[in-house]
Amino acid sequence: MTGGPHLHLDDMGVWNDRLHQLEVIGVHAETPTVRTFVFRADPGLWFRYRPGQFVTLELPIEGGPLLRTYTLSSSPSRPLSVAVTVKAQAESIGTRWMFDHLRVGMRLRAYGPTGHFTHVAHPASRYLFVSAGSGITPMMAMLRWIADVAPDSDVAFVTAARSPDELIFRHELELLDRQMPKLALSMIVRDTPPGGAWTGHRGRLDATRLPILVPDMLTREVFCCGPDGFMSAVRGILADAGHDMARYHQESFGDLPVATREAPAEQAAPDADAATIRFLESDVAAVAPAGQTVLEIARSVGVRIPAACESGLCGTCRISLAAGAVDMNHNGGILDEDIADGYILACCSVPRGDVQVGA
Ligand code: FES
Repeated sequence: MTGGPHLHLDDMGVWNDRLHQLEVIGVHAETPTVRTFVFRADPGLWFRYRPGQFVTLELPIEGGPLLRTYTLSSSPSRPLSVAVTVKAQAESIGTRWMFDHLRVGMRLRAYGPTGHFTHVAHPASRYLFVSAGSGITPMMAMLRWIADVAPDSDVAFVTAARSPDELIFRHELELLDRQMPKLALSMIVRDTPPGGAWTGHRGRLDATRLPILVPDMLTREVFCCGPDGFMSAVRGILADAGHDMARYHQESFGDLPVATREAPAEQAAPDADAATIRFLESDVAAVAPAGQTVLEIARSVGVRIPAACESGLCGTCRISLAAGAVDMNHNGGILDEDIADGYILACCSVPRGDVQVGA
C-alpha cells in the first residue's frame, strides 16, 4: 500500500464527492457472477456515511460517462474504505463495464453516499433483515456495523438465493453467526444441485416458511431488499400476519432507472418579466421557463450537472442554492440537514422566480 504516514482519524478530513475521487484498492469474487469493488479516498481522508446508504459511480465508458447507483456493502465502522458488491446482469451496461475494465489503481468520480435505508434511523431492540439475491448488500452493511459496534444485538437475518453457490457473503455470515450470540441466520435456496451438500432450507420464502424461520417476526423492525416481486411478497406476508407496517422498510437495489428525457427545447429569447437563473460556477445566466427544472435549464445552456436517476432519488444532482427559492419535489434523495444547509436537487427543483445556484 502507498499511503504515507499513518494518521489517526481525528487528524484526517472527510471525503467530499465534489472534490475527491475514489481509487480502486481491491476486486474480489463473491460468487461466479458477483464481485466486490473496494475503494479508498486520497490519503488523509475518511468516509462518513450510514450503513445501508448508496453511492453513484461515474463510469468512464466509451461514448461518455455513465452514472450508476450502487448500495455500499461496507460498514462505516471501518471508515478508511468503501465497497460496492455488484452482480453482472446480462442486460447491465454499467456493471458489465465494471467487471471488464475496473482494476486496482483506477480512479473514479462518485457522488454520495446518500439514502435513507438504514437501521440507525430506526432504533429497535430486535431487527429482521430479509433479502434476496444482491438485495443482501445493504443488509450486510448494517450487519457488519452491528457486529462491530453492538455484537450482542438481536438480529434475525434471512437471505434467499437461487442456489447455494449464489448465496452472497455466505462464509462471512456463517462466521458472524458463530460470533454474535443473538444473530439468527437463515439461508434459503430454491434449487440444490443433485447430490449437493446443502443441508439448509430449501424452497421459496412464503407465508408458511417466514414465521417458521422467524417465529417472533411481528416484534421486529423489518428491513427488506430484493427484486420487486420478492419485496411485495414479504410485505404481504407481514401485513397479513398483522405486523405494524410502520416498522417495515424496503429498498430497491441495483441500478436505479435512468430517465432518458429529451433535452428541453432551445431557450426562447429572454422576456423582460421572465425569471432568470444564474449558474455561478459556470458564469452563465439563462431564462428559467415556467415548469422547467434546474437540470433541464442547465442542459439547455451547456452547464453540466451530473445526474443519475433524474427523479429525486439518488442525490447525484445535489447543488447549492445561493439565492432565490425553488419548488423541490424529491423522492428522498436529499437529507433535511442538506436542505437546511442550502442544497437542492437540480433534477426535481423548479425555480420560483430569480435564482442563483452553485453549478
Ligand atoms: S439525479 Fe438523482 S436525485 Fe437528481
